[in-house]
Amino acid sequence: MRPKVLLYKPLPDDERQRLAMHFDIMEFDGFHRDNEIEFLAALREAEGIIGGSGIKLPTERLEQASKLKVASTISVGTDQYDLDYLARRNIPVMHTPGVLNETTADTMFALLMCTARRALELSNMVKEGRWKHTIGPDLYGTDVHGKTLGIVGMGRIGQAIAKRAHLGFDMKIQYFNRTPNPQAEKDYDAQYLSLENLLSSSDFICVMTPLSASTQGLIGEREFALMKPDCIFINGSRGKVIDESALIKALQTKQIRAAGLDVFQQEPLPANSPLCQLDNAVLFPHIGSATVETRRKMITCAVDNLIRAMSGDISQNCANG
Ligand code: DGY
Repeated sequence: MRPKVLLYKPLPDDERQRLAMHFDIMEFDGFHRDNEIEFLAALREAEGIIGGSGIKLPTERLEQASKLKVASTISVGTDQYDLDYLARRNIPVMHTPGVLNETTADTMFALLMCTARRALELSNMVKEGRWKHTIGPDLYGTDVHGKTLGIVGMGRIGQAIAKRAHLGFDMKIQYFNRTPNPQAEKDYDAQYLSLENLLSSSDFICVMTPLSASTQGLIGEREFALMKPDCIFINGSRGKVIDESALIKALQTKQIRAAGLDVFQQEPLPANSPLCQLDNAVLFPHIGSATVETRRKMITCAVDNLIRAMSGDISQNCANG
């Protein structure tokens, strides 16, 4: 009998067919109230699961998945799972690092540029017919080139951001990471600092660290208070790495200049969030890796990961091995 795999995100036909060559697929478009009973019945039968990071499968759900052998996610982030719990059950969580670094760094740079140059605010002014005369200093942005960029989390994406900033924008790079990153120091002249020193001396701060028990709430009221009043804060990791209420307060009181956010504590961000009222917040709908090319590569990688891991090979891309 072929192993059963629960697929909970629509895939392009060719990738779906590749899965179907190896497995019996039980297919769902997400997990929601309308399909809950069928989805949980399928989860109980599944030896493999594959889907995106937007769908949380908490431990109490996975406890029902008694036949589960492999979880494959079409994302680099794995915070939708309790990795330790799955490791204790010897269930590898396979993810897609590597293929999305450059695209995500592009997105972070877009966020940084839009925020610094007030691009969306000014674009709206033009579209809404409010451009009546040459803009004055009250609407000027701030330079990016030559400034100091602090990167919190100098992993693969952090390094791709450092590359753009150092080589393209002549920025000074400083970073905070669990451990020093000699490659980033060599390639981009990056300087390793304590979190406190980075926060108090950076013009731009870009948070890219994965969400884990040790990074949850890493940046809160105390940390925003350490930042320069002109600081522009960018978050491309996960919403829960920062205290969103503390950020809103820092933006409302102009304790910091502005923020560019791709991730939020609750996604989709509710329209009544105070963030939506702030001119000094640029908000993207979690699009770090969302280009046609990169999402395709992530799907191919996740399908490969599942096929290999189901046959016992977890030598590449295992997040909890
Ligand atoms: C990732 O790959 O983790 C991105 O945030 C998309 O979920």
